[in-house]
Amino acid sequence: MSVLRSQIVGIGSYLPPDVVTNEDLARRVDTSDEWIVQRTGIRSRRIAAPDQKTSDLALGAARAALLDAGMGADELDLIVLATTTPDNTFPATATKVQAALGMTHGAAFDVQAVCAGFIYALAVADNFIRLGQARAALVIGAETFSRLLDWNDRTTSVLFGDGAGAVVLRGGTGEGTPADRGVLSTHLHSDGRQYDLLYADGGPSATGTTGHVRMQGQEVFRHAVQRLSDVLNEALAANGVSAADVDWLVPHQANKRIIDGTARKLGLSTDRVVTTVDHHGNTSAASIPLALAEAVGDGRIRRGHLVALEAIGGGLAWGSALVRW
Ligand code: ACO
Repeated sequence: MSVLRSQIVGIGSYLPPDVVTNEDLARRVDTSDEWIVQRTGIRSRRIAAPDQKTSDLALGAARAALLDAGMGADELDLIVLATTTPDNTFPATATKVQAALGMTHGAAFDVQAVCAGFIYALAVADNFIRLGQARAALVIGAETFSRLLDWNDRTTSVLFGDGAGAVVLRGGTGEGTPADRGVLSTHLHSDGRQYDLLYADGGPSATGTTGHVRMQGQEVFRHAVQRLSDVLNEALAANGVSAADVDWLVPHQANKRIIDGTARKLGLSTDRVVTTVDHHGNTSAASIPLALAEAVGDGRIRRGHLVALEAIGGGLAWGSALVRW
């Protein structure tokens, strides 16, 4: 049976140049390198310069992904940009990227699912392509999450970083089996009863300010490992494959302990898990495409590999995707 699949034909990333180490943070916040490494695995993160906006980071990643795909922006029908830190409250940051790329047709919009944003954006674009509403799409995860941090709150300010990653999807035919190249499935979930576990204490409607990240860390941790392993198992079952078939797990990079705990639950050894949290921190919607770009760039992820993606974040919102590279 011939089916339409969204194939990933290009990938790119952009990281702001400013590296902030744990030692740098310890001069600003009551913390230590030892505490941060032990509890999170994070050693450093990139922080955007004051004049760098989310759209600047997104544009860097988008240009790199289009170059990798050998495509021009005129070949895209759609841009879906996942972010929690848009340049402005409106319009969508995606439209700024659209204009900067010189794309004057199609549609560009943002998706908000915090740290799960890239999976949500990928699912949206994949559905557009499989329904024939778009032939090619750019999916971007981009954040200047540092702008949401309360530097008086050591429990959150040490966790996050800035960056952007992007993939180009193009429609291609498959046989409807897990051997097909492309996005094999996406599974999305949210449970708004956990809204208060992780949120920004501001917003245009609530306070008229942007607000800062507030988090009940241990509760988020508890939900994360269970839900991520459940949604990965859901993806495996939907495709009739097992964890042993997965070449690479590319998880959202929030915390090394969450990543290890999830991999352990699935029986995946750590040498099949792509980890960048040590040098990126948690870049929210950007973390998966940044990690993918790194692992594709250094040759770990190759054509034909089965790659599992997962993420969870505020909402709570979470999801998984299974991709044949
Ligand atoms: N430096 C030093 N000490 C700290 C720091 C810090 N940066 N932050 C907290 N502490 C202290 C606390 O004050 C507390 O001190 P006390 O015992 O004297 O009261 C102690 O460390 C332990 O605090 P806990 O909150 O119990 O530490 P925990 O082991 O739970 O680690 C952490 C905290 C890392 C936030 C953990 O709960 C976690 O990773 N949760 C997952 C949340 C997450 O990753 N969120 C990201 C967004 S959601 C997502 O992307 C999945």
